[in-house]
Amino acid sequence: MVTMSDIMENYPRSGIRVMFELANQYPDAIALTVGQPNFDTPDFIKEAAIQSLKDGLTGYVSNGGLPELRQAIADQYTKRFGRPFTQDNVMIAAGGMEALFLALVAYLNPGDEIIVPDPGYPNYLGQIALLRGKAVPVPLREECGFQLQPEDLEKAITPKTKAVFLNYPSNPTGAFMDKETLYKLAEVVKKHNIMVVSDEVYEHIVYDGRECFSMAQIPGMEKQVIITNSFSKTYAMTGWRLGYVVADAQLVKLMPQLQEALVSCIPGFIQMAAIAAIANGQEAIAQMVTHYARRRDIMADGLNQIPGFHCFRPQGAFYAFANIKSFGKTSLEFAQELLEKAGVVCVPGSAFGEMGEGYIRSSYANSDENLIEALRRMDTYIRSAY
Ligand SMILES: Cc1ncc(COP(=O)(O)O)c(C=O)c1O
Repeated sequence: MVTMSDIMENYPRSGIRVMFELANQYPDAIALTVGQPNFDTPDFIKEAAIQSLKDGLTGYVSNGGLPELRQAIADQYTKRFGRPFTQDNVMIAAGGMEALFLALVAYLNPGDEIIVPDPGYPNYLGQIALLRGKAVPVPLREECGFQLQPEDLEKAITPKTKAVFLNYPSNPTGAFMDKETLYKLAEVVKKHNIMVVSDEVYEHIVYDGRECFSMAQIPGMEKQVIITNSFSKTYAMTGWRLGYVVADAQLVKLMPQLQEALVSCIPGFIQMAAIAAIANGQEAIAQMVTHYARRRDIMADGLNQIPGFHCFRPQGAFYAFANIKSFGKTSLEFAQELLEKAGVVCVPGSAFGEMGEGYIRSSYANSDENLIEALRRMDTYIRSAY
């Protein structure tokens, strides 16, 4: 019998899976687990894809992506950052996931260390493991609004550090990064000459008049920050698998050859739909964000009214990360209890790293009715049991 690769045998297991599998046994439970918009892709985007299929765009296209889409993305960044971007700064990828992978392949040699947020998006760990790197968690503390602190970053850096992952607005915490802290982090990054992979897939989903500011906007950081982004959350296009990298042209130039060996190219008709999304998507984004903002209020206010819960008020993305330490249980035990006794599925914070212990994540990308009913069930159970 041929032995399996050590990656296959030791690949980090997802703590989110455990809850999914358990939840299958409770068909009436309300799932607050999904990390995707509860909206359908807007019709005009679908129609652009259909039209493109009818026009015959069904073959291979260039490895780096359609020039028109790369240019459309470059134009958005030129406008937003106030400095020129061209299609040479943009690489089209299979979702934010492949964009992250390309950013990692660009810098990671086996044994290199990559600093990852804790709590943070678990797939970072899987990708780093695939490339035989070492993930080094850096704590994000609730008392600091879950914003990475410069002194914590500095402590995590060693001579083997290649890069740090930033993810704001954040999954799972819903935190936003303020400009002042970002400038201080940039100082640390410059001092130690490491790369930053800035995962900005939730950049458009922000509340209370906030506007995302990227570390790549800080003068002097242009070559040191790789932005990864995606159409998944912004345009409710998770199933289309479309994302992109925005980075220094010298780096982006080498990415198409990696794509050749991975998936060759992203389907042309999907890229045509993305061009339509950029051209005409502003209103659709604004409408979805209005709904998310209302649901953020329902969720955060509702959780904070349950005795023993303390929920950080999400500033972006669509997750509420509630502190449940007062119950004295592990987050997995507590999530199981909520499932079995209250009929509500949340993700245990421990699925996002050691620092996530003592929290549960609830996605509010769900209908108002479901959120209100889920909160009612949790409130009733907690008041009767504790
Ligand atoms: C923080 C973060 N980064 C990246 C992704 C991946 O996005 P995509 O669906 O575009 O691959 C997700 C999806 O949940 C996410 O939460």
